[in-house]
Amino acid sequence: MLMDTEYSWWIALGSIYMALPLLAYTVIPYLFYGNRSTKKRIIVYVIGDLGHSPRMCNQAASFSKHGWEVELCGYLEGAVPKFIEDDPNITIHELPVCDHVRGKQPLAAMIHKVTFQMLAISKQLWKLRGSDYLLMQNPPSIPIMPLAVLYRFTGCKLIIDWHNLGYSILQLKFGSFYHPFVLIYYMIEYFFSKFATYNLTVTKAMKDYLVKNFGLKSKRCVVLYDRPSSQFGPLSTTVDRSHALHNESFIKDYVPKDFDLGKGDKVFVTSTSFTPDEDIGILIGALKIYENSCKKFDKSLPKILCFITGKGLLKQKFIERVRQEKWEKCNINFLWLSPTDYPKLLQLCDYGISLHTSSSGLDLPMKILDMLGSGLPVIASNYPVLEELLVHEKNGLKFLDRRELHEALVFAMKDANIYKSLHETVLLEQGNRWDSSWKTAMKEINLIN
Ligand SMILES: *[C@@H]1O[C@H](CO)[C@@H](O)[C@H](O)[C@H]1NC(C)=O
Ligand SMILES: *[C@@H]1O[C@H](CO)[C@@H](O)[C@H](O)[C@H]1NC(C)=O
Ligand SMILES: *[C@@H]1O[C@H](CO)[C@@H](O)[C@H](O)[C@H]1NC(C)=O
Repeated sequence: MLMDTEYSWWIALGSIYMALPLLAYTVIPYLFYGNRSTKKRIIVYVIGDLGHSPRMCNQAASFSKHGWEVELCGYLEGAVPKFIEDDPNITIHELPVCDHVRGKQPLAAMIHKVTFQMLAISKQLWKLRGSDYLLMQNPPSIPIMPLAVLYRFTGCKLIIDWHNLGYSILQLKFGSFYHPFVLIYYMIEYFFSKFATYNLTVTKAMKDYLVKNFGLKSKRCVVLYDRPSSQFGPLSTTVDRSHALHNESFIKDYVPKDFDLGKGDKVFVTSTSFTPDEDIGILIGALKIYENSCKKFDKSLPKILCFITGKGLLKQKFIERVRQEKWEKCNINFLWLSPTDYPKLLQLCDYGISLHTSSSGLDLPMKILDMLGSGLPVIASNYPVLEELLVHEKNGLKFLDRRELHEALVFAMKDANIYKSLHETVLLEQGNRWDSSWKTAMKEINLIN
């Protein structure tokens, strides 16, 4: 009896020993390395529509350009940009949409959705194991961040790209930091972000905030500025802008017959969703002052053509307000343009105007980037972070209130040199902004050399 047990022990040990190579060469690699290749491989994860995630698409393209294999994961609601689709180094993995939540209680729906997402993401990450890095966008932090942290056990390093703070957006929605959802979100964001290998942020202000409040190590956190979406670019020098204004079908009906760029008349554009934190009233007020001073003092001032694009709740109110006044020098039009016409409109304007004031105070408005990308100097409502994008009298002008906006308008209208110098700086800064910022950032964290 005794002999027998001992004997079987030996057999067991022996077979485990024999199985070791199998374990070492097949099972462990299967578990942890998946189909690792010789190239460096990065997973770029967005819980959002890829077509509406320009920054993550740019990330993917930049890694690809440096010879990395890129696995781009996210929802596919619309088309992805052409440069992503055509790139042989980028593989797109679609994240399935959870659409069985209608008719459920909000809480039940949310739990259902998060569970669904967790399963879908885990499945996808499992397939892609063996990658060197996982780059995730934050927010949303739930449910990807905890999963991404777990994923580090496969040997994959985690990079968090901080676009904003998830909890602060939720806080705006629920109105209080102490709402249970906001608290849970905050704790998850705070706790799990500690396990990131590297952090990227969209502004220096965001970095400083994270370093101070989330206890992040300053050395491992780098600033990576955004760039304009690819559909925005300056007008080709072969196109006659004046003619295009009077000829392009989407715009010509709004351009007065006697409007003449040659005489110093100028076109301004702003885009807005007419929310209370973006006060179009300031712009209309400033234009009214311009109109009045033309009447009283200086009949020779040039004309202003102003386009306000976008839609939103308060739009009708402002349309009424413009209609009530009598305008001679200023022509104000409200438009709602297709995604293909908006970049075309920007190209035909002289200046962009931004009335955006940031809610978290840490991010920069994409619309200013798109305007700069189209070659327009921007006249912007100032707040501290804006300094990182727009320098007064260098690539734009800044204002604090209606009176200062009016001054900026007069400055922009009367001084031909100022437009020239601003415009030149804007064109000069173009394009190299993302690439150089990307390279500096990645070198700083040693991802590329
Ligand atoms: C794909 O990767 C190779 C290097 O492996 C690189 O030379 C090439 O430029 C990349 N393609 C694109 C479109 O970036
Ligand atoms: C990244 O940020 C988190 C905080 O958000 C921090 O805990 C973590 O240490 C950072 N990573 C590094 C390597 O500093
Ligand atoms: C004027 O507009 C029409 C159609 O809107 C277009 O076919 C034509 O090429 C334009 N002319 C110029 C010179 O841009």
